[in-house]
Amino acid sequence: MLNEYDLSVGQVATRCGVKVSTLHFYEQKGLIKSLRNQGNQRRYPRDVLRRISVIKAAQQFGISLHDIQQAFSHLPNQRTPNKDDWSQLSKTWKNQLNTQINALEDLRDSLEGCIGCGCLSMTSCPLYNPNDTLATKGDGAVLLAKPK
Ligand code: FES
Repeated sequence: MLNEYDLSVGQVATRCGVKVSTLHFYEQKGLIKSLRNQGNQRRYPRDVLRRISVIKAAQQFGISLHDIQQAFSHLPNQRTPNKDDWSQLSKTWKNQLNTQINALEDLRDSLEGCIGCGCLSMTSCPLYNPNDTLATKGDGAVLLAKPK
């Protein structure tokens, strides 16, 4: 239900420092919702400002919009995250970030022999896919290959 304190798309864009097209994109992805006024213009409840702040903060952590949408969908009545929700979400995303950081550190450490090498050897280069189980099924992109 619309109320007089709802915000136009331009007001939300200005307040949040995002483009109008970004708001449309967020809405298309189910991250925010708007209502339509009698002139068929978008109107956003004021809590959209906090919702967008959470989205922007999560994106700065490298969290995908898909993961943000998933997290929002688990909130009761898909409400805008409150302080406790943010505390929980940020802990989850922190763990996710630590996992990614560890994976990147492992990758970095495995690349030490590659730096300045350039051989891309199929037998000794760590960039080569050592667990390539599909290699037994043929050369190239076997999943994309059409059956003969
Ligand atoms: S490029 Fe030579 S070992 Fe990776």
